[in-house]
This record gives sequence, structure tokens and C-alpha cells, in this order.
Amino acid sequence: MNAAADHEENVRPVTRCRVCGASDWQEIVSFGEVPLANAFLAPAASYEDEPAYPLGVISCRSCRLMSVTHVVDPEVLYRSYSYVTSDSETITRHMEFVAATCRERGGLAPGDLVVELGSNTGQQLAVFARDGARVLGVDPARNLAAVANERGTPTLPEFFTAATAEIVRRSHGPARLVLGRHVFAHIDDLAGVLAGVHALLAPDGVFAVEVPYAVDLLEKLAFDTIYHEHLSYFLVRTLDTLFTRHGLSLFDVERLPVHGGSLLVLVGRPEAGRPVTHAVSTLIEAEKRAELGSDAGYREFARGVRAIREELPALVRSLVAEGHRVAGYGASAKGTTILNICGLGPAEVAYCTDTTSLKQGKVLPGTHIPVRSPEDARADPPDVYLMLAWNYAEEILRKEAEFLRAGGRFVLPFPKPVIVSADSVR
Ligand code: TMP
Ligand code: ZN
Repeated sequence: MNAAADHEENVRPVTRCRVCGASDWQEIVSFGEVPLANAFLAPAASYEDEPAYPLGVISCRSCRLMSVTHVVDPEVLYRSYSYVTSDSETITRHMEFVAATCRERGGLAPGDLVVELGSNTGQQLAVFARDGARVLGVDPARNLAAVANERGTPTLPEFFTAATAEIVRRSHGPARLVLGRHVFAHIDDLAGVLAGVHALLAPDGVFAVEVPYAVDLLEKLAFDTIYHEHLSYFLVRTLDTLFTRHGLSLFDVERLPVHGGSLLVLVGRPEAGRPVTHAVSTLIEAEKRAELGSDAGYREFARGVRAIREELPALVRSLVAEGHRVAGYGASAKGTTILNICGLGPAEVAYCTDTTSLKQGKVLPGTHIPVRSPEDARADPPDVYLMLAWNYAEEILRKEAEFLRAGGRFVLPFPKPVIVSADSVR
């Protein structure tokens, strides 16, 4: 069997909506065939067999779930995973906030069991453990689960399913809190995961879910968050439909700035009778007013994406043509996506700098731009950085004050590409 046929076995087009079961889709935008965003490669003389999969986004006309057009087999995506939860100031602060919110609004007490899906290397669970909770991680990435276990956060190297949940319940008892941070949008079999939540959750337990908010995506036009791992882009309205269909009740929501704009939603059993907060109806009303129930809002997004896909590479090419050296800041999954979608490669972007040791020394998927450590980048700085980890822009601009003072500049891609220098940051 040749490599292309091999790859085809690992992908399938989306037909029915994973939230409501309908199959009437509005096509929003298609990016063609794109490699997996986190599939960093060892440098090689040729990259002939590198897999690429169709990437595009569609919207369900019934429940307004935004979904990617194709689902790649999770065994291919997650068993060995190079995305390590950031230990940036921004994320560390955010994890404290999540723990405090779950404690206060979910009524979490010391000794309660907290189970996290997609727990990565265990950073979030370590915050709960510090405050006295019993914790257990469940993450299919064997490499990351091993790191978490070494660091003292017990972690099962499994996908979270009804069967996994039964095993956990038998050995640990019911969970007072089940948490899924930025993993829920990666899951195709939502029914399976929610059956697991049902099996594991204590009668008054809380399921806390953090997802990127589709409204932020639509407003900020940050289309680089659309990649194969991100299957779903949710409205509050859509999440409400989903949980209701599975016998659960969404009772609270908070809009957060993290990862370009996210929602933290709290879900419980309807029998627990938790009152639904005002924040839920307020956001659902705002989504109605923004006309996100009809095709028009999504057509406008598609127009905005087209404009950036033209303007950003044109701006980078003009900087290069003027003799400036350009490098990427952060080899984020978003970064590899935008470079591929905009057709920018080593001719325009000399290297990408990234703090993740797993990525350093490798090349980016598709574009094959090399990844360098911050130390190497500081020894050989570019004239201009393309901000690829824009969700940390504030923190990075502060950290790179010296680069800016020395005349360095940043290009910020969204919602319209702009150049930032020391003068504009002040
Ligand atoms: P994320 O948005 O998916 O967390 O990815 C951000 C990437 O950017 C991650 O690979 C780490 C990298 N990064 C840096 O290289 N320097 C920084 O200062 C920050 C905050 C992130
Ligand atoms: Zn739907």
C-alpha cells in the first residue's frame, strides 16, 4: 500500500452533526490539504511522504455547531503528542482562576475527587492537588501521561470513554468534579464522553468544560485556530443543546480571554436543581442579536478570512523584499497552520523560535521552517517577528522589550495585519 492510501484511511469527511445529528451544512471556508498542526518533523533532505489532510470549516444550519470538514483518527493525532501545556504566566494565572471558580461555584471541598480529561502533563491537576483534592488525569498521549506520572500526578494513558469512566469509578469512587480544558473541542464522539461523565459524576458533581468561543473566532477572524485537532467551535446555544440532549444541564458560563477567547461552562445533573445563571441567557441572547443563527454572519467571517489570507503574506513578502529578515515567534499549532494556509515558507520566514524543548531542532509541518530555542534566536535575532503565539502577545511584547528597544518589530496578524514597534507598544 502506498503512503497516500495509508493516510486516506486515517481521515473521514463529517456528514452528520456531532451535536444534533442533522446533516444540513453551510460551507464557510476551505483551506485545501494541510499537514497536521503539531506534526513537527526531524530535519531531512526530503519530506516526500508527509501526510496532509483536507481542512475546512462548516456550520450546522440546525444547531449552529461550527465543525471542521474532516476528522482525522484520534489514534493518529493523540497517542504521541507534542503539545505540552504552556507554563507561561498567562496560563499559570488562568489555571489558578479555573481552580478557584470550580471550588467556589462547584462547591469543591478538600478530599473530593477531581478527574481531568486531556490532562496533558498534569499542571492543572497539580493546582487542585495543592489545595487538597484527590486528583486523577486521563490522557491518551502515552508520552505525556508518563511525564505526569513522573511528576506525581497519577494519570491513565487512555481516551476518556464510558468504559474508562466505569474503571475509574470502581477504583476511586464518584468524582465531585470532572474537568475538560481545551479538550472538548477535540472530541468527535461526544456521546461516548458524556456517557462517561454520567457514569463518573457524583449526584451533585460538576462537569467543567473550557472551549474556544466561536464568537471570538468570528469577531477576531483568527482562522489559524482552525486545524484538524479542533473539531468543534461552539456557541453557548450549541453547548446548551448538546448537554440537554444528553440529560445534563448547563447552569453557568464565563467568558475568558485565554487562547484568544474561551468559555468556561459548568454543567450538572438536572436533578441537582442548580439555578441557571443570568450569564447563560445573556450570552445566548447576544448570539441571537449577532445573527449567528443564519448564514449571513458566517459569510462575513469568510470574507474577513479571505482578506487576511491576501494581506498577511503580501506584508511579509514586502518586508523581505525591503531586505528585512523575518522570523516567527512561537512554533504554535496556530503558527504552523497560518504559515501553511498563507503559503509562507523558509524563503520568507528564516526560523521560528519556541520555548518547547520537544519542538526545538525540528522543522515545522508543511513549511519545514526550522525551530530554534529562544537563546539561539537572541544570538541571531531577525529584524521583524511574525507573532505566531498571538494569544500571549502582551506577555511576549513585555518579555521582548529589549528586542523592540533595539529597533525590532512585530507583525500581529489579526483581525488585520499590523506592524508593532517600540513606539506603538509604549
Ligand atoms: P499555545 O498557544 O498552543 O499554548 O502555543 C504557544 C506556543 O508558543 C508554544 O509552542 C510555546 C510558544 N511560546 C514561546 O515560544 N514563547 C513564549 O513566550 C510563549 C508565551 C509561548
Ligand atoms: Zn447540529
